[in-house]
Amino acid sequence: MEKVSLFSDNKVLIGPDSGFDNYIMALESSCDETACAIVKNGREVVANVVASQIKTHEKFGGVIPEIAAREHLDAVNVVVEEAFSQSGLKGKDITAFASTVGPGLVGCLLVGLNAAKTLSLVYDKPFIGVNHLNAHLCANYLDTDIKPPFMALLVSGGHTQIIDVESYSKQTILGETIDDAVGEAYDKVARLIGLPYPGGPKLDKLAQVGNPKAFELPISKVGDYDFSFSGLKTAVLRLVKSFDGKELPTEDICASFQECVSKTLVKKLRKALQEKGYKQVVIAGGVAANSEIRKKVFDLEKEGYKVNAPAMKYCTDNAAMVASCAYFNTNTFDDIDVEVFSRVKG
Ligand code: KG4
Ligand code: ZN
Repeated sequence: MEKVSLFSDNKVLIGPDSGFDNYIMALESSCDETACAIVKNGREVVANVVASQIKTHEKFGGVIPEIAAREHLDAVNVVVEEAFSQSGLKGKDITAFASTVGPGLVGCLLVGLNAAKTLSLVYDKPFIGVNHLNAHLCANYLDTDIKPPFMALLVSGGHTQIIDVESYSKQTILGETIDDAVGEAYDKVARLIGLPYPGGPKLDKLAQVGNPKAFELPISKVGDYDFSFSGLKTAVLRLVKSFDGKELPTEDICASFQECVSKTLVKKLRKALQEKGYKQVVIAGGVAANSEIRKKVFDLEKEGYKVNAPAMKYCTDNAAMVASCAYFNTNTFDDIDVEVFSRVKG
């Protein structure tokens, strides 16, 4: 696919059909990670830098958008320089510059977008805007040779979707959450039982030493491939209240919650696989780092499916997945006037 530089007619062929090695530098700043990466031909990570703001937001119990945007501003040049230095490449060696355009926090997204556009302008190379959700899916291409078609389970802080990935650029959302995303449910339940932000990974740790059968929690019944986690969250709230201030069996609550979530996700994923007749399945998004969800999805191998999950460092927000998405042209935005967006337009 031909891409044009920002302010000149310099045309460059990008992607698997370009006939030469592509080095894409990408920036990611949609939430609380400032990241920059350089990826060769959509799969080989030659530099990967992530500056996390968790320490800053921890004391507030969640991400404060204005503070996050300011921290991105402080970090963006540092991560770009570090990526150049890790790779040994110079600006002129980069084939195209990419950044996440949305969904995410607008003030945060603007930092990465403007930095990437500026680099494109300085080095007279194309700019490629990327959808954060598509980027999470493309994390599966990093350091692997997996190719579509496959079924994907995308589980992040903001989204829960089952996606039919027919080709690099053709994807259909089969179902999604009608209320809370899985990551959101993890963070809210973690908060309920007194775990500090970000609660998801902490809840996962405690769940691993608890009894998953200790409490029966409700699995919501919604349409074919859709999900609902707000009822489950309320059930945990009731359970916590029932202890009336007495010491909570925290590990058992975590394990029971985790069992309910992972069972629901994999049940629907299996149904989608069977209906479509696909033989490959992938998981993606921050919650794909979850031990039990990973385990249950990998158990599908026993049923004959080929399963892939990104390495842990490519599950949570990073820029290597953005570079891969730009290379494979997965629903990208190539208009130089592209603006950031906070939510997927429905
Ligand atoms: O994909 P991501 O990094 O950011 C978004 O695009 O949303 O996902 C962040 C989410 C948070 O809700 C975090 O609590 C959750 O992923 N998360 C986990 C685990 N690691 C990260 N949730 C459950 N278990 C984990 N191990
Ligand atoms: Zn994300």
